Amino acid sequence: MAIPTHFNSENIPRHIAIIMDGNGRWAKLNGKARIFGHRSGVKSVRSVTEGAAEAGVEFLTLYAFSTENWNRPKAEVMALMQLLVTTIAGETKTLNKNNIQLNAIGNLASLPKNCQAELKKAVEKTSKNTGMTLVLALSYSSRWEILNAVKSLLIDVKSGKLDETAVNEPLFNSYLCTSSIPDPELIIRTSGEHRISNFLLWQAAYSEFYFTDMLWPDFRKEHLWDAICDFQNRERRFGKTSEQL
Ligand code: IPE
Ligand code: IPE
Ligand code: MG
Repeated sequence: MAIPTHFNSENIPRHIAIIMDGNGRWAKLNGKARIFGHRSGVKSVRSVTEGAAEAGVEFLTLYAFSTENWNRPKAEVMALMQLLVTTIAGETKTLNKNNIQLNAIGNLASLPKNCQAELKKAVEKTSKNTGMTLVLALSYSSRWEILNAVKSLLIDVKSGKLDETAVNEPLFNSYLCTSSIPDPELIIRTSGEHRISNFLLWQAAYSEFYFTDMLWPDFRKEHLWDAICDFQNRERRFGKTSEQL
């Protein structure tokens, strides 16, 4: 599948973040258990990762498991963690083949030990790649991240390492899990829900949002490219008037 010809290669978002939603409803529509939807969602992850790299996106963040998702039935949580382990282990080779670096944000210490180990291995094995960075948001919530940043910042002020007058936006940013990642220009959410669900609250200050009714397991690279085309037709004013741009 080729990138659309009307693509403006000069205006590709450096960072796209996706709230991958709708696996459960997709499974239900197909008369299957929820985990079947999660498994099918892995195919979408593969396709979209490939499509983002082909389009020249530098960072792709996928919201795979939120802090709030721990409140789901235990069996679903366990199945999701298992799926995470097998997917990460199984995809490392392809990531290397495609020169993609793997990274993760979130409260990673709260993940099961085997999951942490597999993740660490994959991050290390792909660390020399120089192409796109794929960021998995795992056990992630933005309020957790922001509170964590505030706590670390306070410790540094208290110990004298940091002068409180030095606190500004770039400095605060450096305390977030995304310190080395630019803010996402485009945030996509599938499944027809129009909410942010505790995702990248600070980083999304000026993001463009793209919502689609499509359920995540049906989403493929061509749908990502549609979203990028839509993004390219928007005027990002950052508070200014159209005439000032
Ligand atoms: C998204 O699909 C995957 C995760 C949140 C882990 P859902 O499991 O939320 O699917 P729906 O929203 O119930 O359809
Ligand atoms: C958001 O999806 C989290 C992920 C995609 C990982 P949810 O399905 O958990 O979101 P809510 O609870 O419906 O807002
Ligand atoms: Mg959902």
